[in-house]
Amino acid sequence: MLNTDTLFVGQTAIYLPTIDSTNAYAKELLTKNKPSAGTVIWAGQQTAGRGQVGSSWETAPFQNLTASFILHPNFLEVNQQFALNQAIALAIRDLLLSINLSNERVKIKWPNDIYVDTDKVAGVLIENVIEKSKIKHSIIGIGLNVNQSEFSPTLKNPTSLYQKTGKSFEITQLLSELCRFVEQHFLQLKAQKISELKAIYTQNLFRYQEIYNFQIAESQEVIQAQILGVSPAGKLIIQHENQLREFGLKEIQFII
Ligand code: BTN
Repeated sequence: MLNTDTLFVGQTAIYLPTIDSTNAYAKELLTKNKPSAGTVIWAGQQTAGRGQVGSSWETAPFQNLTASFILHPNFLEVNQQFALNQAIALAIRDLLLSINLSNERVKIKWPNDIYVDTDKVAGVLIENVIEKSKIKHSIIGIGLNVNQSEFSPTLKNPTSLYQKTGKSFEITQLLSELCRFVEQHFLQLKAQKISELKAIYTQNLFRYQEIYNFQIAESQEVIQAQILGVSPAGKLIIQHENQLREFGLKEIQFII
């Protein structure tokens, strides 16, 4: 049981000590039952954790937060999908601010990785079920590195809350708080406060409006550019030599 004081997020919580992937479990659940909005599935360890664009998500067992939230955002049109990513990134940011990490240190690396300084502490994998141009169901998978002290050297720039604060955290406590922040931002979305969410998301983007190097995947060209924002479809908008350019996931890489 999670100790949440929410209206619906986390009111049904399913704990699985070991599972292949909480997102896969949530997907299966949606085909069998009618899980209520806000159902949370969380695991001690995942044997086949999934990351963005077909990658995997590897974390040490029982040391981190791995959870999937089932929501039914049927008030969102397909072309508003990215607003959900923004709301979730902000919910994780709020969780990190609540444990006293500063605003200057916690950033959202487009599209929705959460960074502390220049290191990735959390990743999000959202899988939507679309019906008649609306989002019927959404599975929101969140992996937050909590108490892990060492990472595989094959990972690019992983970190954990433990590494960044020197403290250990109770995972159930963090998850309960996360439920609260997910609910808050989901309700904001429901109230169509999309532009407000977008504004806070944009202001808190990693390297927002700073000049940095990026690599264009197609040409391998390295350019100096500045992030100006994100399009409604979720593409990164950058300015390079007085030209505005848009990139999708995997089309551009940050050089960190
Ligand atoms: C990424 O940054 O690549 C996204 C990582 C998402 C990982 C979470 S852990 C809980 C949920 N279940 C999964 O299999 N993946 C997501």
